[in-house]
Amino acid sequence: MKALTWQGKRNVTVEEVADPVIQQPADAIIRITSSAICGSDLHLYELLGPFLDRGDILGHEPMGVVVEVGANVTKLKPGDRVVIPFTIACGVCFFCLRGLQSQCETTQVRKYGSGAALFGYTKLYGQVPGGQAEYLRVPLADYNHIPVAPDLPDERYLFLSDILPTAWQGVEYAQLPEGGTLAVMGLGPVGQFVSRIARHRGHRVIAVEPVAERRAMAERHGIETLDLTDTTVEEIRDATEGRGADAVVDAVGLEAHGNSGVEFLQKAVGLLPDPAARQMLDKAGVDRLAAVYASIDAVRRGGTISLSGVYAGDADILPMKTLFDKQISLRMGQCNVKNWIDDLLPLVEDPSDPLGVMDLTTHHAALEDAPELYRTFQEKKDGCIKVVLHPSAA
Ligand SMILES: NC(=O)c1ccc[n+]([C@@H]2O[C@H](COP(=O)([O-])OP(=O)(O)OC[C@H]3O[C@@H](n4cnc5c(N)ncnc54)[C@H](O)[C@@H]3O)[C@@H](O)[C@H]2O)c1
Ligand SMILES: [Zn+2]
Ligand SMILES: [Zn+2]
Repeated sequence: MKALTWQGKRNVTVEEVADPVIQQPADAIIRITSSAICGSDLHLYELLGPFLDRGDILGHEPMGVVVEVGANVTKLKPGDRVVIPFTIACGVCFFCLRGLQSQCETTQVRKYGSGAALFGYTKLYGQVPGGQAEYLRVPLADYNHIPVAPDLPDERYLFLSDILPTAWQGVEYAQLPEGGTLAVMGLGPVGQFVSRIARHRGHRVIAVEPVAERRAMAERHGIETLDLTDTTVEEIRDATEGRGADAVVDAVGLEAHGNSGVEFLQKAVGLLPDPAARQMLDKAGVDRLAAVYASIDAVRRGGTISLSGVYAGDADILPMKTLFDKQISLRMGQCNVKNWIDDLLPLVEDPSDPLGVMDLTTHHAALEDAPELYRTFQEKKDGCIKVVLHPSAA
């Protein structure tokens, strides 16, 4: 089959690789009809290379049609249409039963002290071949799928694989009071959905984003927006009676614009040989924390900061005095995808499309064009906000 593979920093290629096969009786094989590129893939493209091997297949936002199931699979059969959550979980362990599927004890990657295995996401998360490919092997398939109806287009359902539940969890963890104001840092795909979900739940949303067309997309959905400038946080306070937002969701993550000192460190890591770079990434404070710092500044006293953006440094510098004095709650983590599907499924199937799932994708493409679209998405060229690849026909 054809698959999108990682080859080095800012270098991905489509290669002919072996078709996946059933390895365990709980596995299923899916033919992929749609597979999105995520902001998290950009971290692999740019920074997390030391944790990847040449040839690793990327992609963790797939959906498609079941073609084969292992002997123990009872809930799926060939022909079923499914979305595949990016977190691989068992559904029956201590954490899964508590709605913490991204910490699943069955798939935890203990070698690296990590939580649940993820599709297409480095050795830290199990080095499981990903879904930007014609076919995907799904472990523990009875649990790791979301069954979807045959009649609506892929785009209605595709984002249940990651960014919709990620955004939903970001808003849940923000612990907003009724009618409260949420500030959102970043209007990539995650920030777009965070903003729309909070609006849908009756909150006022003020979102910060440096890229004009991303602000314009949010404004189409009733979101107030601000450019990223030196006075952004002041403007948020001015808009909230001087107090700051009740909660802030950071939908930016470790490659935020700003913090040039850390930018230097990130570049230096890129020049080290892989084992040394791995250790540096793992042990040092390598995240650009501009969005976190702005969140700490923009949240009101007693408010909550919810991090949806991914962070990866172990010694990042946080202003503990301010966090303590302002009495700030901090929540974060990889998305527990299956925990939020019952809330989201009726919304994506609603004909009025309340979350605007049909207004996010800016680029549809064949798998062959993926390398070029990684570049376009990273550089935010050509109005690119979300890319969906179509490895095979729907
Ligand atoms: N927690 C999870 O399970 C989970 C799941 C999916 C994605 N993510 C993470 O969420 C983050 C966003 O993902 P995405 O797909 O929307 O990516 P993206 O890269 O398209 O979005 C990031 C946006 O932030 C903007 N930005 C950069 N610096 C900023 C700053 N200082 N202030 C405000 N905005 C700034 C960028 O212009 C961009 O629009 C990434 O870190 C991604 O890894 C986490
Ligand atoms: Zn993702
Ligand atoms: Zn589990």
